[in-house]
Amino acid sequence: MYGDRSRFRSNIASFTLMPKPPFQLFVVVPPGLEALAAAELRDAGQPVEIVRGGLSCTAGWEGLMAAHLHSRIASRVLVRVARFGARALGELERKAGEVDWAAWIPSERLRDPSDPIPVDVSCGRSRLYHEGAVRERVLRAIGREPSDPAPSNAPGAWRLHVRVHRDTITISLDATGDHLHRRGYRRLTGSAPLRETLAAAALRASGWPFDRPLLDPFAGSGTIVIEGALMARRIPPALATASRQPPEFPFLEWEGAPAATWTDEVGRARDRILPGAPAPILASDRDARSLEALAGNARAAGVEEDLSVEQASMTRASMTGGDAGWIVTNPPYGGRLGERSQLRPLYRSLGSQLAGPWSDWAFCAYVSDPVLEGALRRELSRRGAGPLESLVKTRNGGIPVTLVGRPMPPLPGPPGDP
Ligand SMILES: C[S@@+](CC[C@H](N)C(=O)[O-])C[C@H]1O[C@@H](n2cnc3c(N)ncnc32)[C@H](O)[C@@H]1O
Repeated sequence: MYGDRSRFRSNIASFTLMPKPPFQLFVVVPPGLEALAAAELRDAGQPVEIVRGGLSCTAGWEGLMAAHLHSRIASRVLVRVARFGARALGELERKAGEVDWAAWIPSERLRDPSDPIPVDVSCGRSRLYHEGAVRERVLRAIGREPSDPAPSNAPGAWRLHVRVHRDTITISLDATGDHLHRRGYRRLTGSAPLRETLAAAALRASGWPFDRPLLDPFAGSGTIVIEGALMARRIPPALATASRQPPEFPFLEWEGAPAATWTDEVGRARDRILPGAPAPILASDRDARSLEALAGNARAAGVEEDLSVEQASMTRASMTGGDAGWIVTNPPYGGRLGERSQLRPLYRSLGSQLAGPWSDWAFCAYVSDPVLEGALRRELSRRGAGPLESLVKTRNGGIPVTLVGRPMPPLPGPPGDP
């Protein structure tokens, strides 16, 4: 009975059924980074609108491909299958059963219970609040037993996202699969690695122009400098491993996906890659093991030649003697009790570095603890250095963080200038 094919035929006119392009996309973005992600997608030729929790747009296969190939900040792309109102489980199952599922998921996959179709559910502000029950009813509606064992992390080309918000159900297909921040180059991590998407956002927000030096004095396993090298060499995030091969995104398996267009887009992107970064990219950290991780990750990303690495404590890093550039970094947060008092002197010395030897460098950093951020700001002001702006608020691995920064300070004019 659950496999009854007649249930899959839609006869509800209000359903938005789009078995072929144009697709209605929802691009999931880490909170707070929507404007940066939108600018990036617009640069890639895909107009988008900022909505709660992400970006929305109408796109063809090319737009879907551009989002996957070029978006460094987005987390994943969902393609809307249906949206309808439902306030009871029976109504949800009936309406979801009327979706033309066979237009999205090949019938043989729908019929094969050994082939997992994971269903992720989130409920909020609605009569339907029990995520397990919603998942069960959606599984029934697509002809699966509610006990379908598909674990939520199962790979595969067909994974459903169900959002229940204010009694409106939005069902989407996940076009992306593995989270986009997993670029494939991270082999090893240091103590508290930064998400690749957040590193890319910081670089973009900092305004680093690629032809000026970049420094991360708390480089750890190297996420910021590796993302910087990829950006400076125009290596798209989907080609971020040394092989320069893209991942097998689920949407490429969908019925009608134009494989030749994807091959062309990837080829064009590869042709634009520069052989080397146009300016020095400098990484230092005091911890030898983190720097070993950095070296391995940089090799896996095929950017090791673009980086200069030094093991040194922040105040002794010796690589900043040349032209001034951009410091983009992620100092230790001090999340655990007791760490804050240990880290306060470090934030103060960062302030005196920025007011002293690094006074002509632009600066951007993720900070998390208001007390440590205060210590940094106070040191800068005590030494007469310009204030830091708060650029973005987001979360890294569940921890709230703020990106603070200052632009490159203006060069002093010739003597006598007002
Ligand atoms: C939050 S982690 C940076 C993580 C890095 N963004 C990544 O993605 O792996 C902070 C780093 O600061 C380094 N560190 C702490 N105190 C330092 C100091 N005084 N001088 C230089 N590095 C320091 C630690 O070894 C650690 O690797």
